[in-house]
Amino acid sequence: MRQGDNVIHSERVSPEYMRSGSAATANKDPPRAQTLAAGSRKIDAAIVVLQRVESTPGGPQDVRMQGEAVMIFRQLFEPDSSTYTYLIACPATGKTALIDPVLDSAVRDVKILQEMGLTLDYTIDTHIHADHLSGARRLRELTGSQIACPAMDALSCADIGITEGEVLRIGQLELHPLFTPGHTDHHHAYLLDDGTHKLLFSGDALLIDACGRTDFQSGDAATLYRSIHDKFFTLPDETLVYPCHDYEGRFVSSIAQEKARNPRLGGNRSQQAFVDIMNTLDLPYPRKIDFAVPGNRQCGECPDNVPEQYRAPCEPQDQG
Ligand SMILES: [Fe+2]
Repeated sequence: MRQGDNVIHSERVSPEYMRSGSAATANKDPPRAQTLAAGSRKIDAAIVVLQRVESTPGGPQDVRMQGEAVMIFRQLFEPDSSTYTYLIACPATGKTALIDPVLDSAVRDVKILQEMGLTLDYTIDTHIHADHLSGARRLRELTGSQIACPAMDALSCADIGITEGEVLRIGQLELHPLFTPGHTDHHHAYLLDDGTHKLLFSGDALLIDACGRTDFQSGDAATLYRSIHDKFFTLPDETLVYPCHDYEGRFVSSIAQEKARNPRLGGNRSQQAFVDIMNTLDLPYPRKIDFAVPGNRQCGECPDNVPEQYRAPCEPQDQG
């Protein structure tokens, strides 16, 4: 396994979490609920790696945790929407998942997986994104992976419906879905607790020193406050928080940090104070929402109304 050679150049843009989407219509063909089964494949280099791949002025930064082989982890970055995609894999079985992949980076993701000797088994979305097209459908076409998303979204294109209380198994790794509405009405976060590390993939519900907007997609500030307090702030302080976005070059936070210093939620800020903040943000209209939401209800298919300047990722790409 090579490391440090998957550098994604970053071009930070204005905060996309300020630009989430509108309500989507329910699909009449709900997916069949499934539970991820443990696989049997082995990978060549089963070592413990906590690694993030993105660009910083200083180049790639690796974070490693030495010890027993329990997890393979990478933080990937898509610069146009400032989206973090998370690669998690089970060293013992080779089972691999990407959380919140982006269409624009699907071919890159496949190359990274190939370099790591991994085959993608699952894509897992936290919610219907309004700021980018999901890479789920393209990755399924490229790798045969299965698409997992909240069962509440009732997407006919999905292979696996996710529900709180039903563990997602990535080989020997267990992802615990947390129903956390407020940014969207069906948003789910995922908690990975392998006994040593606690990682919360918080989606757009909780960002670093911020949170997802609540004025689109059936969002509701009071509901988001309750989700964060009831589902996130009750987790152990040392739980690492990996959000779906960051716009200022930050990579990770913790429950302790967000409880202490999140400017919207920290310091025991009241629900009413939070609602007041969220209701006065005066955010701009999301630039991709008009095609991203309908496209993501098809698991990342490009609808006809994608503007010319955003169409490049819609074209078939050489995996080269
Ligand atoms: Fe979002």
